[in-house]
Amino acid sequence: MKTIRTQVGIIGAGPAGLTLAHWLRRQGIDAVIIEHRSREYVQARVRAGLLEQNTVDILKALGLADRLIREGHEHHGVYLSFDGERIRVPFDAHTNGRHITIYGQQEVVKDLTDAWQAAGETLLFEAPALAIEDFDTRHPKIYFEQAGEKGVIECDFVAACDGFHGLGRKTLPRHSYREYAITYPFSWLGILADVPPSSDELVYAYHERGFALHSLRSAKVSRLYLQVENGESIDQWPDDRIWEELSVRLGTPGWHLQSGPIFEKSITPMRSFLIDNLQAGRLFLAGDAAHIVPPTGGKGLNLAIADVKHLVDGLADFYRNGSCTGLELYTQTALRRVWRAQEFSNFMTTLFHKQDEHGSFQYRLQRARFDYIRTSEAYAATIAENYVGLPFSAFDH
Ligand code: APR
Ligand code: PHB
Repeated sequence: MKTIRTQVGIIGAGPAGLTLAHWLRRQGIDAVIIEHRSREYVQARVRAGLLEQNTVDILKALGLADRLIREGHEHHGVYLSFDGERIRVPFDAHTNGRHITIYGQQEVVKDLTDAWQAAGETLLFEAPALAIEDFDTRHPKIYFEQAGEKGVIECDFVAACDGFHGLGRKTLPRHSYREYAITYPFSWLGILADVPPSSDELVYAYHERGFALHSLRSAKVSRLYLQVENGESIDQWPDDRIWEELSVRLGTPGWHLQSGPIFEKSITPMRSFLIDNLQAGRLFLAGDAAHIVPPTGGKGLNLAIADVKHLVDGLADFYRNGSCTGLELYTQTALRRVWRAQEFSNFMTTLFHKQDEHGSFQYRLQRARFDYIRTSEAYAATIAENYVGLPFSAFDH
């Protein structure tokens, strides 16, 4: 059996695992990553593309943001639309200049993977973790396999950054956590299209036919989403129908949605999910392994990176000072932000999705919220500061 020895064994080469590996390396701590899927598969996976200020600051500080700075799009406001009436929530005035950057998640993953490999560090693709053992001792092990050969990573700590379907959560003792979940009665149909964006900033829209979102990837590529029913199939959505629906739902007087060839289409269910314990002995969970937010607000990747920050703080304190305090507090520290993001993502989802008949009590509540954003600086500020992401200091209590 192939044996690899490192300080931190990382399962999963998504945003959480890769950022953790780089950050630990910066702190002089060794890490090895194993990834179930192939490099091509991971990098072709289309996900959201909204980076909070914190996330960009971290990637910059790690020297991993060259392409992100060149190709990402800074946004200083967002459009919110309700029944065809569009308003803009500006960020700068409400957030001391904090803003968001639009840059595809798979581009982040590509940049971090390239930099890790360029540094000569170990990342094994098509190497699924099969078991995590001895995490209640000082010598945990990750058993894996690659190309039919079995292997083991002997390490000081295991970081399960292995997403919602990963092994990390399944390995946590079942009695050590409670699970919280909401499944929404709708899904998102997402497209990528070869057409310049029709809006300079994102547009989130409530319409009596359902939610729609206009986002982008570049000056030539638009990213758009539609609320669809759970269980709908992509075959029910030919391109013309998608453009027609987007144009109606996002529509506002004096504005035109440009259409173009669609080259990616997928339907994703929406859920809010978390467990309230992220660790057992020397096993730690980060990112989607521990929590999922509905994509309205684009918090998923940012939350994964925030977990990593707290985990790095704890591990650095351990290796530098021999202190376990940061690690012991990891769950508690990370969950403060996770719950905030859960609340905001649920808020944005319920504000903009059609949940009941147009004109119903639920609709009136949504309408009242929208009207309040328009008239109250304080309410707009609340949305702006959550949307760009609260600074880490906001959770120091
Ligand atoms: N062994 C090795 N790798 C595994 C295993 C396993 N047993 N199980 C899962 N993985 C890998 C997956 O193939 C995936 O590449 O772990 C990785 C987890 O990555 P993500 O799902 O991207 O999760 P995370 O890094 O937490 O990033 C969170 O990703 O899911 C999106 O929208 C979400 O933006 C959020 C972000
Ligand atoms: C995206 O660009 O993919 C995106 C942006 C904002 C969201 C969700 C997804 O809220």
